[in-house]
Amino acid sequence: MTEKIRISGGRQLKGEVLISGAKNAVLKLMAAALLAKGESKIYNVPELTDVVIMLNVLEQLGAKTSYDKQEKSIKIDASNLTGVRAGYELVSRMRASFIVLGALVGRCKEAVVALPGGCAIGERKVDFHIKGLEALGTNIKIENGYVHAKAKKLTGNDIYLDIPSVGATENIMLAAVLAEGATRIQNAAQEPEITDLANFLNAMGADIIGAGTSEIVINGVKQEDLHPIEYTTIPDRIEAGTYMAAFIATKGKGIIRNIFPNHLTFYTSKLTKMGADIKLIDPTSIEVSCKRKLEAINIITQPYPGFPTDLQSMAMTLATVADGVSIITESLYENRFMQVPELRKMGADIHQERNHALVKGVKNLTGANLMASDLRAGASLVIAALMAEGESNIDNIYHIDRGYELLENKFKLIGADIERYSDNVDVLNQSKGNLSESQL
Ligand code: EPU
Repeated sequence: MTEKIRISGGRQLKGEVLISGAKNAVLKLMAAALLAKGESKIYNVPELTDVVIMLNVLEQLGAKTSYDKQEKSIKIDASNLTGVRAGYELVSRMRASFIVLGALVGRCKEAVVALPGGCAIGERKVDFHIKGLEALGTNIKIENGYVHAKAKKLTGNDIYLDIPSVGATENIMLAAVLAEGATRIQNAAQEPEITDLANFLNAMGADIIGAGTSEIVINGVKQEDLHPIEYTTIPDRIEAGTYMAAFIATKGKGIIRNIFPNHLTFYTSKLTKMGADIKLIDPTSIEVSCKRKLEAINIITQPYPGFPTDLQSMAMTLATVADGVSIITESLYENRFMQVPELRKMGADIHQERNHALVKGVKNLTGANLMASDLRAGASLVIAALMAEGESNIDNIYHIDRGYELLENKFKLIGADIERYSDNVDVLNQSKGNLSESQL
């Protein structure tokens, strides 16, 4: 039985959307909670499958966890960790759980964590994570698909990252909190989720300076300096960017609340250049509308503060109906144009050559049966279906559920004709019934 989404396109979206806590921040905060003995509480936690998987990982390690759906909070009691192993069953379902590696090395000086491997959007290596932890004095062996990490003690060091990797910056930061002396990460990732993690750790008693810039210094502290805390996760800038695209795509008008607009500066400037009107209405809310025909745009995805790769597919969807030819270059992942064949089914005119896509705007898209291949490609198909003429059905929506809390409820509230349904028809048996044996 698979769940699908049916969307009847062409409705102008209007109203207000409340953005949830950031998936890519909260998962790391959950790992960070392992560092301090005692019970930490995190607020603004979205109800997502990835959060549930992370809770399971933490439980496997001996943490006691609970999730209050009403309050959107989780409690993590890491007083007694009883294990250092994060198994393949869970890490393979959610690669972000690899982040427990740094926390375990920091707290227990030992970890056995499954290697996440590649995924639909690219190879996604973890070599910088490993090199960074080794530079702090961790002995690392890769055996049977697992990273076996052990350290007698951790000592601060200077670490230069070839690419400002988000995950590597986070794993190194987590381990370095309890190292002896100072660790300096150069060419560090500057994403808001990194700053959120540093703020969380500092509130816990860590000593981290420079998060949000390309150089982060972590002055090691002692285990007894760390204490559990209560903390509120930052809003999800990628979810916000998705709803911004939805209002623009449908020529609607809406208010997006509970966001930090400065986390979306680059994206906002590109959407404005395309013809959207985006106004700040208070420090945590913006109004988004679009009356004009969109204009083509050139985009190159870059690490923060550049154009976010996670919103590239949304911009491409808008470009499919813009005036002129847009050039979109994906520079972070090898395979992040999985939405292209699906958008073509809807009538989009896209020419793709390796990591470049030439998108020639057409008059409009038409509804089709679509397949979500990964989280963000899937979300961009929702936007495409909302602006298309006619009905679309999107399959494999479990990918989308990984990153969008209450997706269809939020869209219904702003006037979308959208519904989730279960498709439990046994297609193979049905088609067998219609086909003679020789055809099978
Ligand atoms: N890379 C390496 N070696 C490493 C680490 C990274 O070659 O050791 C490469 C990756 O293969 C990739 C690039 O560097 O091509 C960037 O990877 P990064 O480590 O920055 O990404 P990440 O930490 O794996 C997070 C988000 C992604 C988001 C990227 C970039 C989480 C859980 N995931 O991934 O979010 O695209 O940063 O901003 O935080 C999503 O939400 O849909 C998503 C994929």
